Amino acid sequence: MIIDPKSNENFYYTLTGVVIPRPIAFISTISLSGELNLAPFSFFNAVSSNPPTVAISIARNAPSKRKDTLANIESTKEFVINIVTEDIVEAMNLTAAEYPTEVNEFEIAGLTSAPSELVSAPRLLESPVNLECKLTQVVSIGKDQTESGLVLAEVLIMHIDDKIVTNNRVDPKKLKAIGRLGGSEYSHTDRSFTLVRPNYETTS
Ligand SMILES: Cc1cc2nc3c(=O)[nH]c(=O)nc-3n(C[C@H](O)[C@H](O)[C@H](O)COP(=O)(O)O)c2cc1C
Repeated sequence: MIIDPKSNENFYYTLTGVVIPRPIAFISTISLSGELNLAPFSFFNAVSSNPPTVAISIARNAPSKRKDTLANIESTKEFVINIVTEDIVEAMNLTAAEYPTEVNEFEIAGLTSAPSELVSAPRLLESPVNLECKLTQVVSIGKDQTESGLVLAEVLIMHIDDKIVTNNRVDPKKLKAIGRLGGSEYSHTDRSFTLVRPNYETTS
């Protein structure tokens, strides 16, 4: 089977069904007028180490409204990525409806905001990892109703709960991060294995 996105209306479902599992950036922002916002995004990854850089693709408009997260990131240039764990995945899901701008999703989901160190956006207390981020640039993808903003941002500082660290390394079995699969499916991250990368030795 070959699928051409130009003639397949549901290509989004196929694409997000095969690019799996995707990490989830649970993004907290604050608007210029002080409204808090929290929403999940799984077009997300770490894309460079120096400077530490993350990328998140956010549709500019949901079917019924603009997405507050992108608007807040563009106006304040700051945000926090909170890692989604097993304990907060259902709360995360509650924040993903298209609430009006003035709705505070921390309250909807019964979650707690805490001040950040370097950015105006709050961090999520219930997440064991918070990345305080500063916007580098927004790259526009697509146009009109299907436009997305690819947000590139530098990680300024990371908060990690000591409880998930073993021998100075984050222990994935303690972090219990959730991955996103296609549609409404999710995955756990506690089934891992070791594969040591080979070295290429030149003989001359
Ligand atoms: C697990 C999950 C991942 C999501 N990933 C994205 C994404 O990568 N990009 C996007 O534009 N919307 C994504 N959404 C939808 C947004 O979370 C949703 O549109 C939300 O209402 C946006 O909130 P806001 O208007 O407060 O920014 C995702 C939803 C869920 C549940």
